[in-house]
Amino acid sequence: MNRPEPTGKQAAPNSTPAIETLPRLISLPFDHVPRWLRRQAYNVSYVELGDGTGGQLWVTRHGWCHLTQLDPSRWFLDSQYDRLGQRLSGGTGAVFRVRSSGPDGKSVDLVVKFSRMAQEVLLRISSAFPADVPAQVVDNIVFNDPFQEFGVLEDMRNSRYGPATLRIRTKRPLAIYSPGQRFKPWQLGRTSDRFRTYVRQLEKDQDRRPEDMAAVEMSIDRQYIALFQWVRGDDTQTLVDRRVMTIGDAELLVRQIVHDLAAKGFHVPDTKPNHIILRTRRNGTLLTRAGKLVYALVDFELLQRTDAYLAWQATR
Ligand SMILES: Nc1ncnc2c1ncn2[C@@H]1O[C@H](COP(=O)(O)OP(=O)(O)O)[C@@H](O)[C@H]1O
Ligand SMILES: [Mg+2]
Repeated sequence: MNRPEPTGKQAAPNSTPAIETLPRLISLPFDHVPRWLRRQAYNVSYVELGDGTGGQLWVTRHGWCHLTQLDPSRWFLDSQYDRLGQRLSGGTGAVFRVRSSGPDGKSVDLVVKFSRMAQEVLLRISSAFPADVPAQVVDNIVFNDPFQEFGVLEDMRNSRYGPATLRIRTKRPLAIYSPGQRFKPWQLGRTSDRFRTYVRQLEKDQDRRPEDMAAVEMSIDRQYIALFQWVRGDDTQTLVDRRVMTIGDAELLVRQIVHDLAAKGFHVPDTKPNHIILRTRRNGTLLTRAGKLVYALVDFELLQRTDAYLAWQATR
């Protein structure tokens, strides 16, 4: 494949090379990838590649070392994520865990999450774990699109706000994939009104990108899939079901996490036990550090910055 010329701000979204040209690229450190392949959205850097069938893959810095495993031919093609993987979502979403192996046999456990942007949020707040949000906030909740989600997640992972000793562990955002196949908006549960809001926000964000960088664009008729790394451990709901923890322990943990998130400038309206992953030691006890349970969080489709964080960010 010929190397396309960089076309600056007008670059067509499909001007990226197919993943088959990887062997030359893969040896480069993320920061040395040529600029014509680099993208930026909501302050997150990506390398954009094509999949040879009109699809696009945006790989983050975290995903770069797993590039061969992120190649859609290794986990997406022929619905491998469904046939060979395990369906995770308990709710309305489509989330899968699938092991993807590269040509060298090295594998990565991927979480494959189909974005629900521009769909209606049907938020079920468990009565056992009522979230501390006023009703009108629940009414106004919308799903993050994957680029927004990775942006707010990276802000949280960078941990620049709040107590320096507190860091929130999360699953790692590896890549965003959009297959070439086109759908009718209703097939994806989207309304054009809702989708337009995401496009406007992305355009506004892209206006601030460097002059020589091509834009990230989203289409209403395409699917967007967020790819994360699987976090080893068990979710808190499972640990309660297995009687490793009591409901009371889980309730306390949820409260502590809502508090931790707020201290770091973030908020999830549906913090709940199955979004909290804990590690067990060989002897079956839960892993702790300084007397506190070590936890990692998953599911950031609804992750938001707090007003305090936004105010702090605006002063910088
Ligand atoms: N990276 C991960 N590591 C471990 N478990 C995960 C991970 N991502 C998701 N899970 C598990 O899968 C469940 C479903 O994923 P989630 O992102 O919450 O989707 P949904 O809300 O659509 O059901 C989670 O509640 C969690 O228990
Ligand atoms: Mg969830």
